[in-house]
Amino acid sequence: MSARRIVLVGFMGAGKSTTGRAMARRLGWNFCDLDRLIVERSKMSIPQFFQVRGEAAFREEEHSAAASLADESRLVIAAGGGAFAQEQTREVLQQASVSVWLRCRLETSLARIGRGRSRPLAADREKIGALFEARQASYALADVTLDSDGLGPDEMARRVIEALGERVDAGGERRDRCGT
Ligand code: S3P
Repeated sequence: MSARRIVLVGFMGAGKSTTGRAMARRLGWNFCDLDRLIVERSKMSIPQFFQVRGEAAFREEEHSAAASLADESRLVIAAGGGAFAQEQTREVLQQASVSVWLRCRLETSLARIGRGRSRPLAADREKIGALFEARQASYALADVTLDSDGLGPDEMARRVIEALGERVDAGGERRDRCGT
């Protein structure tokens, strides 16, 4: 049976959002960036959310945002880097989905995320290596793994769609769900 949703998972800077958008364009599917959905629902930026409500509340909101997408079809979801590491959020994301780990090296991730302040968990460069390592086992639970080092979003989107083949039902109208 083909999946009605595709979920991109992986560490910060793996290219989930840019690849997801390019995939949705190619497939004629909708796209949702889970972080953008959280921002819309909470009316707070991600750094603000972490600062005001803390990481535990962010994980709850992330779960509930993911659950709100459970009935969607023809949807590409870019999950935040911690979403698939939370068992309950992972379970919700896996429903009727094929999941893809956009794997990259830590150096690639660090180069892509730069020094911006939009990612609270990337602020401490001492801890990020340990977080990267700790997350690998969860990402490996994805149905498909593809390396994203050195690849731009369009090429990555092409590779993911090719790798998924019959597992997705291509076609349909494009209607952005969120996060354009
Ligand atoms: C996080 C990754 C971020 C965002 C939040 C927490 C994480 O998403 O959800 O800052 O725990 O790795 P991206 O992977 O899209 O940067």
